[in-house]
Amino acid sequence: MLHSDLQFIKIRAKDFISYMGPLFQNKILVTGGCGFIGTNFIHLAFDRLPECRIINLDKLTYAGNPANLAEYEENSRYRLVNGDINDRQLVDRLFVEEKIDTVVHFAAESHVDRSITGPGEFIRTNIDGTFSLLEAARQAWIGQEQNQDGEGVTAKSYRFLHVSTDEVYGSLGATGYFTETTSYDPRSPYSASKAAADHLARAYFHTYGLPVMVTNCSNNYGPYQFPEKLIPLIINNALQGRELPVYGDGKNVRDWLFVTDHCQALLAVLEKGKAGETYNIGGNNEKQNITIVKTICDLVDEKIGQLENKEPRRSLIRFVKDRPGHDRRYAIDAGKIARKLGWQPQVSFDDGIRQTIDWYLENRPWMEAVIDGSYKEYYKKMYGNRGI
Ligand code: NAD
Ligand code: DAU
Repeated sequence: MLHSDLQFIKIRAKDFISYMGPLFQNKILVTGGCGFIGTNFIHLAFDRLPECRIINLDKLTYAGNPANLAEYEENSRYRLVNGDINDRQLVDRLFVEEKIDTVVHFAAESHVDRSITGPGEFIRTNIDGTFSLLEAARQAWIGQEQNQDGEGVTAKSYRFLHVSTDEVYGSLGATGYFTETTSYDPRSPYSASKAAADHLARAYFHTYGLPVMVTNCSNNYGPYQFPEKLIPLIINNALQGRELPVYGDGKNVRDWLFVTDHCQALLAVLEKGKAGETYNIGGNNEKQNITIVKTICDLVDEKIGQLENKEPRRSLIRFVKDRPGHDRRYAIDAGKIARKLGWQPQVSFDDGIRQTIDWYLENRPWMEAVIDGSYKEYYKKMYGNRGI
């Protein structure tokens, strides 16, 4: 049966909520599409889903850069809306005006260090904002039609993909992996706010039958990442010959995934995932921070030569005061998404980190534009008097 034929058939809510299918002419509300992962997702979606319409709702905070998607400004299948996910009137209007049938929810305050110095915005955007979107989707998709046992919902392949993080699971010791059934144990205001949002999203599936899927992904890296996160910050400082701050002993471990692999995984979840399910996404690529920093130093030396004083860039490494509550190790077991949806990462770390450094080298004006006055202030506040 064709996807479009399904539109007018009435089926029970519990049947429709387990149906997912190919994204043909879907109307996709992407939140936070001008951020790092959202930008990469929209580029991939335009490539892979030539008949979709994308509505990008973004508050354009310091982390959102509309220039990332400037090439679609005149494209009739793209609309950028500068607004807040907490603005219910706006969100409700978009659902109706644009007949939204798919939500890919990236919008968040995403930096752990900022959540330590100012948690309030994390609560507002990550928790209240997610609640606002879930309510808007519930009203638009289930609305007045649903009676108590869920009869009478118009069949259509609606889907709400809530994009989340592996940080909700807390910190691992030297061994073990996070699976989809690992208990939540968030330890920073950022991860606690994401955990709360995940719980709300799942509650909307169980309580209202909203077709929600949740993904929990490990650390991403790649083009368009704001230079507050480890990899772009180190690349930027290495290119400028500035000190390279490594927190604590540098032995914290993260599982790194190239951003396009994450976006491919999200498309797989949208197309083949099951409502109500959670999928862990990871790179199977654990590295200590110090290894990452040394790798970047060596590659930048290789690409543009050593520092003016003839020293290698490793000489810029400085161990600085640790992040409070710093999680020691994250590692994802991505077996479920491999088995159920056939997704696996394609880009090796060696290739991905070279591609990333090349992108920053080729896009120096992009970096110059984002390290403006407010970034300089942020950097001074975060690193100025950090000490050892
Ligand atoms: P980012 O900080 O680069 O981008 C966030 C985007 O959200 C920005 O464009 C910003 O303007 C927008 N935004 C912020 N508040 C908003 C609001 N109230 N209303 C509308 N838009 C708002 O983040 P990212 O690294 O691209 O992460 C995207 C999502 O993926 C987040 O939910 C994050 O928790 C999750 N995630 C990130 C990683 C990672 O390594 N970066 C890993 C796993 C999961
Ligand atoms: O695991 C997924 C998460 O990965 C996402 O949910 C977050 O949005 C994303 O920011 C990221 O969180 P981390 O805290 O792991 O990423 P960050 O790049 O900030 O730090 C990576 C590691 O590097 C961490 O152990 C802290 C360390 N670090 C970071 C910075 C910015 C340093 O040693 N020096 C630094 O200057």
